[in-house]
Amino acid sequence: MEHCNFKICNARVIDGSNGPAVKQDVAIEGDCIVATGDLSAWYGDEHIDAGGQVLAPGFIDVHTHDDLALLKTPDIPFKISQGVTTVVAGNCGISLAPFASGNGFPAPFPLLGGEREFVFPTVEHYRQQFEKQPASVNVALLAGHSSLRVSVLGEAVERPAEQAEIEQMKDSLLLALKQGAIGLSTGLDYPPAAKASTREIVELASTLSGFKDALYVTHMRNEGDHVVEAVSETLEIGSRAGTPVVISHHKCAGPKNYGRSVETLKMISEAQHKQQVMLDVYPYTASSTTLIPRFIRDAEAVLVAHSDPYPEHSGKMLTDIAGQWQCSVEEAAQRLYPAAAIYFQMDEGDLQRIMRFPSTMIGSDGLSGMAKPHPRLWGTFPRVLGRYVREKKLLSIENAIHKMTGLSAQTYGLARRGLIKPGYYADLVLFDPVLIEDRASFEKPDQMASGIDRVFVNGKSVWKDRQSTPERPGRFLTH
Ligand code: ZN
Ligand code: CU
Repeated sequence: MEHCNFKICNARVIDGSNGPAVKQDVAIEGDCIVATGDLSAWYGDEHIDAGGQVLAPGFIDVHTHDDLALLKTPDIPFKISQGVTTVVAGNCGISLAPFASGNGFPAPFPLLGGEREFVFPTVEHYRQQFEKQPASVNVALLAGHSSLRVSVLGEAVERPAEQAEIEQMKDSLLLALKQGAIGLSTGLDYPPAAKASTREIVELASTLSGFKDALYVTHMRNEGDHVVEAVSETLEIGSRAGTPVVISHHKCAGPKNYGRSVETLKMISEAQHKQQVMLDVYPYTASSTTLIPRFIRDAEAVLVAHSDPYPEHSGKMLTDIAGQWQCSVEEAAQRLYPAAAIYFQMDEGDLQRIMRFPSTMIGSDGLSGMAKPHPRLWGTFPRVLGRYVREKKLLSIENAIHKMTGLSAQTYGLARRGLIKPGYYADLVLFDPVLIEDRASFEKPDQMASGIDRVFVNGKSVWKDRQSTPERPGRFLTH
């Protein structure tokens, strides 16, 4: 009899490749999947009867801001309770590392944590801290352009960088890549990066071409009235720098722009004949980020998620707060800052069109550490599988899982992850496709999803009986 640590029997295996579900058994030994198929001749230390539930590769959350959360709450319940086993951190230009502190701390940095918590001048510092006290999930890190910019330009971020400054940022990006960062992220719609020229980004992104699988990931310069120009700029950056690009949380924000994903997706499809372009999306028609007056314009409604000076106002509509204070909404936003908000500003039709697009992956963009976070923090992956697969039949379950696993691992160059295959790491999720459902809502965002039965990371059981186990097997992933 062959031996393994875990033998999972009687599962509907959806392997992440986009291929059809197959009834089979899976064996885990050490940190790997060692066999699949009919394993009746195998003996496992723990035998798990899946009872026909779905066994999939652990979900890869390609768009996160968990850089600090992984260190502060290594059991990371809002990820593993959804079946997430790997997160890509450092998105939207604001990575925790590399960051030289003492040079200013503009919006949107407070979304990640306090200024005093930004203590990682290099990726190596971050890696050492993570490895000293690993989280339950794996992490791969993008180096943030705004982090580089604040480190080099300090208070002068509201102007284009000079050539010498670009060179300094390039050196620091180069070091980050050598130390294991998997790419560069930008947040060109945010104050610390809005004044960066296209050329600045092309120069930085060109650094990536020396590193296999390194990619350029962007929260574009505009996601509203100028979304088409922003897509053009992104494609131009990718093609001039010779690097694959990922468009983060793609959306067409503001009622005037509803429906324009027809146009943006067409541009992307056409560009794909010449260059690699991918996207990520979260399954909600509201966004969430820092609360600054400029962002209010494109929204139908704004809900305050968090405010440092006025914590009692989290969970209230901005118009109600402005009414109570008898001031404009812009003025109210200013007074509430440092603050974060939820912006209702998207069209369900666009969301569904983007989600179905073959090159779209799922990423939560979840933000923790606030009073009333966006429900995507706890609900993203189960929501896709419950609402968009089971209820709306927008995607097949195989395709949805592919967008959460195989496609993501391939795009981000995460070797031996994202598929159920012998020799691959045993990052797995066992869930009930009938019961899986997000429970987090805008009113009660801290609700754990239902339907996730077991989660394994690197062959260790991290989620069982609807709670975390003491295992913290997460690894720092590099190319
Ligand atoms: Zn973003
Ligand atoms: Cu983001």
